Amino acid sequence: MSDITLNIDGKEVKAKEGMTLLEAAKTAGITIPTLCYHEKLEPFGGCRLCIVEVEVKGWTKLVVSCVYPVEKNIIVRTRSEKVDRIRKMILQLLLAHAPDAFDLQDLAKEYGADKDRFEKEPSFCVHCGLCVRYCDEVKKKNAIGFVDRGIRKEINFIPEIAAKECWDCKECFPLCPTEALQAAFVLVEALAFPEAAEG
Ligand code: SF4
Ligand code: FES
Repeated sequence: MSDITLNIDGKEVKAKEGMTLLEAAKTAGITIPTLCYHEKLEPFGGCRLCIVEVEVKGWTKLVVSCVYPVEKNIIVRTRSEKVDRIRKMILQLLLAHAPDAFDLQDLAKEYGADKDRFEKEPSFCVHCGLCVRYCDEVKKKNAIGFVDRGIRKEINFIPEIAAKECWDCKECFPLCPTEALQAAFVLVEALAFPEAAEG
C-alpha cells in the first residue's frame, strides 16, 4: 500500500491508501468527534457527527470522515463554521432523544448545542448501532437487533440467544453512549433469565 499525502487542519499528514480520513486524522493526533464509529467494526457512517470539510482543486464539500477514503493532496478541515453548525444541529437532535448522555453533553458544551432546542422524545437509544454491530461482527452472536416500529426503531435483545450468551459477556455495555442498552438488558433479564435478574 502506497503512502498518500494530504493536509489536515494545516498539517501535512501521510496516510496509507485505503485509510479513511478519520483514521488518517487519528494517526496525526487530530481528534474528530464520533458516535457510531468503533475501530473493530466495519465503517457505518450513521450518525454524521464526524463530517469534515474537504477541499479539492478549490471546491469544498462536506464528507463523512469515518467512511471517506484518503485522497492525495486534498485539504481537510475538521472544524469550520459550516462543520461546527452541522455538528451542533446533530447534537441537538440527539439530545432530544438522550438528554442525559454524558458523551453528548460534553460535545454539546464544545459546540454550543442547546439540549432543549428540540422537543424531548426520550427514546434514550440514539441508533448508533454499536451494540447491534458489535454483537454481530465481533461476537458473531446476534443477540441484539433493531426492531422496526416505523420511525420508532428500537433495539431488542433476542431472549433465546441472550439467555445463553449475554450473562457472562456484556461487552457491548460500555459501547452504548446512553442508558438504552442497559435498560433493554434489564428487560430481557427479567423475561429470559429471571433468576439472574433477582440475584
Ligand atoms: S442501545 Fe446504545 S449502543 Fe445500542 S444502538 Fe442504541 S444508543 Fe447505540
Ligand atoms: S462516526 Fe462517522 S458517521 Fe458516525
